[in-house]
Amino acid sequence: MTAAKFTPRVFSGIQPSGGLTLGNYLGAIKRFVDVQNDGLKGQRFETIYCMVDMHAITATLPDPATLQKNTRELCAGFIASGIDPEKSILFNQSRVPEHAQLAWIFNCVARMGWMQRMTQWKDKAGKNAENASLGLFAYPALMAADILIYHATHVPVGEDQKQHIELTRDIAAKFNHDYGVDFFPMTEPVIEGAATRVMSFRDGTKKMSKSDPSDASRINMTDDADTIAKKIRKAKTDPEPLPETLEGLKDRPEARNLVNIYAALSDKTAEEAMAEVAGQQFGQFKPMLADLAAAKLAPISSEMARLMQEPGEIDAILARGAERAREITAPILDETYRIVGLVR
Ligand code: AMP
Ligand code: TRP
Repeated sequence: MTAAKFTPRVFSGIQPSGGLTLGNYLGAIKRFVDVQNDGLKGQRFETIYCMVDMHAITATLPDPATLQKNTRELCAGFIASGIDPEKSILFNQSRVPEHAQLAWIFNCVARMGWMQRMTQWKDKAGKNAENASLGLFAYPALMAADILIYHATHVPVGEDQKQHIELTRDIAAKFNHDYGVDFFPMTEPVIEGAATRVMSFRDGTKKMSKSDPSDASRINMTDDADTIAKKIRKAKTDPEPLPETLEGLKDRPEARNLVNIYAALSDKTAEEAMAEVAGQQFGQFKPMLADLAAAKLAPISSEMARLMQEPGEIDAILARGAERAREITAPILDETYRIVGLVR
């Protein structure tokens, strides 16, 4: 299949499950902003970013008012970070019904065995898979539909989502093969930058996550400058000074994590950042990192707080984004139905 057939188009989504961390920002949102403004590898892209609220009801059924608030807060986080609703299409998934309509078809294309191999399913369902929702099991088929209902060619995500993008390609390939068409693209994951996997401040082998019971393990996008500085100062490290090269960080996950964060926040590669901070003691490096993090993140958190006072403004942006999204999704769903023999 020739990639040239498809418009260069980026899609990505984040669940409004409440609370955004530095991991979400560096692994996803900041990357979304960079692609919106600068494209990828010298190429321009249409950019589409979605609050996947239908995914946010798969693990548990949140309180309805909380879900709505989280969706608005995530939208505020996107905009405060630099997503421009004029340049990008910004909306929440449940406003665009074609996502769910295509997902049903993909439920019938994907195989049980494929879904059972998903590590996120295994992690989230745990030992109690019998009692997990059917929606949690089908989650990756809805995610594939999110992407393919736009014929998106590239998806920027953190490392943990790679397997879901591979599944999206498997679904596209099986659909194309079974119907003898060349209709869905083979979407590429874009997992780049120094911080594709931001780790916990308490344990450098665990991902920084909003679900970690320890608030000190992460930076929240709503933390103020003092809190950010305090968390970085207290972040777990080892007693050695920083080495001269990245190679020297191999068995030092906590130190490696802080260098990666420093690199990503200052728009450098990990190599460039390492060259700059080589040989420093943490007593010198941590305050510098804390200042940088506070300078980059505090304006975002205050803009988020301002936007949260304007829910009407946010809803209008989401409604307008959904209208623009449907101009793309409606014809693609029509053609999918025609291929499958469904009528709408
Ligand atoms: P989630 O909050 O888990 O729904 O993730 C939303 C997006 O943020 C996805 O693209 C994730 O890959 C990314 N992400 C979440 N946590 C991290 C992390 N600790 N490091 C890098 N990216 C992350
Ligand atoms: N599964 C993703 C996550 O947990 C969220 C998501 C849903 C997504 N649909 C998507 C990401 C489509 C990229 C593209 O982070």
